Amino acid sequence: MSRAAKRERFWLNGRFVSESGARVSVLDRGVLYGDALYEVVRFYGRKIFLLDDHLDRLFDEAEAIALPKRFERKAITRAVCGLVARSEKPDGLVLLQWTRGEGPRRLAPPPGLRGTVFAIRFDLPTIPAALRRRGVNVITLPDERWLSTHIKSTNLLASVLARKKADEAGAYEAVLHRGRGPRARITEATSSSFFLVKRGRLVTPAVRGLLPGITRSVVLAVARKEGIPIEERTVRLGEIRNADEAFLTATSAEVLPIGRVNGAPLRHPAPGPVTKRLGRAFARFRGRVLAGTPRVAPA
Ligand code: PDD
Repeated sequence: MSRAAKRERFWLNGRFVSESGARVSVLDRGVLYGDALYEVVRFYGRKIFLLDDHLDRLFDEAEAIALPKRFERKAITRAVCGLVARSEKPDGLVLLQWTRGEGPRRLAPPPGLRGTVFAIRFDLPTIPAALRRRGVNVITLPDERWLSTHIKSTNLLASVLARKKADEAGAYEAVLHRGRGPRARITEATSSSFFLVKRGRLVTPAVRGLLPGITRSVVLAVARKEGIPIEERTVRLGEIRNADEAFLTATSAEVLPIGRVNGAPLRHPAPGPVTKRLGRAFARFRGRVLAGTPRVAPA
């Protein structure tokens, strides 16, 4: 294998390819309609963290929206491992995207579609250590996404626009809500799950209709083990004002303290004691899981 081939960052429909080879048709339904799913997995020291959980979520969603199964789980696992093997860096992310495939342009899927599946390796986004320590700023915005956000669809226009507003406001994320005023219901952030802490209790929106975040479920599991009381329920926008602490969770960000919401600090300077404790418990859980995860040999 040549050096360049060894470092391929793309896998498309069964092949590792260079960027110039990573091309899909303009008639692909992922391009035309966002008729596609995605998933983001993370590797640490060439060990892929909770790959099975990510693939379970992807395949469950694919079944729910009847995507043609061009590749079995084994082939997709090999693709992710192959991209990790080709990585110069031991840590990073792999994006998986699975579309309904290429065919005549009409909304109702025509018969005979095969699906398109690709994967791309990315470097981890850098969150400056000081920001991670002090907590990130977030803004709150109406959730204008479609209602089935438990399906990780690539139809991300509403999320793109919300994140653009956050960027323009100098914020890291936008926490979204449905409804108006203080009784509006918090859903999640554009690419992370949302938690707050009130009087030692961990509060997070119930997951029905929202993406069942894998980091979220790890945080809930470790919180349970730590004996921290948990409330998974409807969370109102007005509750943020009185929250002691708040944080986001996502595959790339792990447990990320929130410092300010719409410019106002939380009651406890970030990171608060519960957030810190959960961050440490998450790291221990990750260490235990990775200790039992095989390392992908470099290509
Ligand atoms: N986003 N909520 C939304 C809307 C998300 O897009 C994500 C993940 C999460 C967190 O899920 P998890 O803990 O399984 O990563 C919650 C991915 C990472 C992304 O958009 O890049």
